[in-house]
Amino acid sequence: MANLVKQITATRLVPVVVLDDAADAHGLADALVSGGLPVAEVTFRTAAASEAIREISSRRDILVGAGTVLNVEQVDQALDAGARFVVSPGLSEAVVRRCQDAGVPVFPGAVTATEVQQAIELGLEVVKFFPAETSGGAKAIKALSAPFAAMRFIPTGGIGTSNLAEYLALDCVAAVGGSWMVPRQAIRDHDFSAIEKLTRDAVAMTR
Ligand code: 3PG
Repeated sequence: MANLVKQITATRLVPVVVLDDAADAHGLADALVSGGLPVAEVTFRTAAASEAIREISSRRDILVGAGTVLNVEQVDQALDAGARFVVSPGLSEAVVRRCQDAGVPVFPGAVTATEVQQAIELGLEVVKFFPAETSGGAKAIKALSAPFAAMRFIPTGGIGTSNLAEYLALDCVAAVGGSWMVPRQAIRDHDFSAIEKLTRDAVAMTR
């Protein structure tokens, strides 16, 4: 599991993808891989999520996870479709436990000391910090990491090229999540070359 977490955070970026049509899954995956970002968090915000995860999980060149997973039913759907990791906007003990039972990394949202402490009690070492910008941004993560030195964060929400560096500068930031490199409209328009370029630019900023 530790290896998988390492793999997910290797590029220090987690693209948050909303797919309206599973038929676009491979085009999107190709663009991410070509752009140097072989990971995708496909959110359970559309009916196409399960099928899209199933399509992408059949590939060996990209690691796919499920995002916006709100309950154990969605955990089961995500894992059945082949999701290799699970992301949740908030902290649900039931969701966390279900993922742990299945041996799958789970990154629930935690933005307060109480939530981080709860995550630690559940045995977690990495949490999503969501919504990052409106929850105090990099400053808040830095303050939060003082008492919880071992906890690592995946800030997501309101991050883009203008503020990415602030987050990446923190050692406790395992990776930064966001949708700026995978605009929903670009996917709808099949503008995969634009996604590849945005992805490549984002990856360049992590170096
Ligand atoms: C998420 O689900 O993690 C966020 O909606 C992504 O936030 P962003 O669109 O502001 O990057």
